[in-house]
Amino acid sequence: MIKMEQINKIYRPQSNPVHALQDINLHIAAGDFAAIMGPSGSGKSTLMNILGCLDTPSSGQYWLGGVQISSMNSDDLAVIRNKKIGFVFQNFNLLPRMTALHNVELPMLYAGIDKEERNRRALDCISRVGMLERMHHRPSELSGGQCQRIAIARALVNTPDIILADEPTGNLDTATSLEIMNIFQSLHREGRTIVLVTHEPDIAAYARRVLHFRDGRLVDEVINPHPAGISDPVEGGETE
Ligand SMILES: Nc1ncnc2c1ncn2[C@@H]1O[C@H](COP(=O)(O)OP(=O)(O)O)[C@@H](O)[C@H]1O
Ligand SMILES: [Mg+2]
Repeated sequence: MIKMEQINKIYRPQSNPVHALQDINLHIAAGDFAAIMGPSGSGKSTLMNILGCLDTPSSGQYWLGGVQISSMNSDDLAVIRNKKIGFVFQNFNLLPRMTALHNVELPMLYAGIDKEERNRRALDCISRVGMLERMHHRPSELSGGQCQRIAIARALVNTPDIILADEPTGNLDTATSLEIMNIFQSLHREGRTIVLVTHEPDIAAYARRVLHFRDGRLVDEVINPHPAGISDPVEGGETE
């Protein structure tokens, strides 16, 4: 699904250059759930911006679903972004004047999907995150956790290949964070590919792989044999 080879990103190459990513080699298979950890300034957001086709690398190769991204122009990147990627942000990035429902419909408007289909898919995704009862509210009338549920519904409406989340629980209390992580966990179990940045080991524990960044380098990877989350009813094991 994702393949990066020798990716480098240098900001301000002319004056005062910042080498934000150095020789990143990364492979993420379809259906995987990866967490990115590392101190502030280690390049996590830079990596997410490149993965999400919001920015391009200074050098190196990036393939997304078999398509070479690294040499694309910004128009092509915008098309890929809308079709293949669902974003979830720390600050939710919902439009304040629109209802939750209209926020969720917006990416489909850009994709030129007709009204009936937009409504059908929006309701489907809003139901998926348990927000049908509040879908006519505006973001200011919702809690942080409810806003993030709506933002996740919005990320799902164009059935993206991959969901990218940059500190999605950064503004939420612990209990709400775990609810949001259970939604990501169930999306992962449905076969979606998820890459999520977090500072918190408790949040990274939901992922199958944890990638550690330091000073722009991928320095370590830990595989999680028993990711946290909704317990599997067949095993009947621990609950969160
Ligand atoms: N647009 C930019 N211009 C210049 N430097 C930047 C820019 N964005 C990030 N940086 C620098 O690149 C490095 C990595 O930043 P970032 O990817 O945001 O790290 P993280 O998300 O891990 O905190 C930092 O030194 C940061 O100051
Ligand atoms: Mg960051």
